[in-house]
Amino acid sequence: MEVNSSKVEHIPVLARTLVEQVNLPRDGVMVDATIGQGGHSLLFGRTLGPNGVIFALDVDKKSIQGAQIRLKDLECKVIFIYGNFSQIGELVREHKVEKVDFILADLGLCSGQLADTEIGLSFQTDMPLDMRIDKSIKSGAADIVNKADQKSLADLIYKFGQERASRRIARFIVRERQDRPITTTGQLAAIVSRALARPGRKRKSRIHPATRTFQALRIAVNNEIQNLERLLASASALLAQKGRIAVISYHSIEDRLVKNNFKANEQAGIYKIITKKPIVPSREEIGENQRARSAKLRIAERQ
Ligand SMILES: C[S@@+](CC[C@H](N)C(=O)[O-])C[C@H]1O[C@@H](n2cnc3c(N)ncnc32)[C@H](O)[C@@H]1O
Repeated sequence: MEVNSSKVEHIPVLARTLVEQVNLPRDGVMVDATIGQGGHSLLFGRTLGPNGVIFALDVDKKSIQGAQIRLKDLECKVIFIYGNFSQIGELVREHKVEKVDFILADLGLCSGQLADTEIGLSFQTDMPLDMRIDKSIKSGAADIVNKADQKSLADLIYKFGQERASRRIARFIVRERQDRPITTTGQLAAIVSRALARPGRKRKSRIHPATRTFQALRIAVNNEIQNLERLLASASALLAQKGRIAVISYHSIEDRLVKNNFKANEQAGIYKIITKKPIVPSREEIGENQRARSAKLRIAERQ
């Protein structure tokens, strides 16, 4: 059965906190660098008047289509851009806008994308192993898993998945693909589970054994680290004085990048860090939205 990503509801993470922390003027200009299903932008958009503008970026065309419907009644102008936030500066300046009041990046995936059989990310449902959120990217996860040499695979799974058993998993993958190519998420999840199984011993971790390996491949396929580095590097030039940048990240590699970028910019007198410690969702929010459990929000203000 095909699942359409825009049909699965995505609950915006830390939404109330964000609106409290970022006061946009009614004619403010914001960039939602990850529009997704438009949940955050809907809240901010309601505070904007007819001269306010939201630039709504996403690399997933289906997300843009979903957000277009969700945001259609806003009074402010919403400019949808199918593009990568790594090019945030160029994409916004193409519209003759030099400075913005707010940049929001809610990293990772929408709930619907995980279920989307065309994206191929889920280890819970068997689907073609792809993982490209942006379909203009050339190689998907199956290419990496079937073509990379064992050491590169192990390094990738270790670096982006922080998986201690990366070498063993890579060995199992390489052995399996000699018999037949690995083409589905179910096949890969089963291989990783076998690699991590310890006969007679119960697994301590509550997460699925393939979680870290899948995270690693997704990060690699979609160039997530490089994209975030570029976004962070170009954000300060785009922010107006007193403008704010807010980033919600979902794993420690991303959070460290954000933290270090904000710190370096503060030392250079460019940013003032608003969140000395990252803001995390309350227990109630996590109870209502499991996706929020690993979220960390950091905010900085342009000086
Ligand atoms: C967590 S969702 C955003 C959810 C959104 N805040 C909401 O409330 O509905 C993240 C979105 O970022 C998009 N995305 C991921 N990497 C991107 C990139 N490099 N440039 C632009 N969009 C990206 C994904 O396609 C996804 O739709």
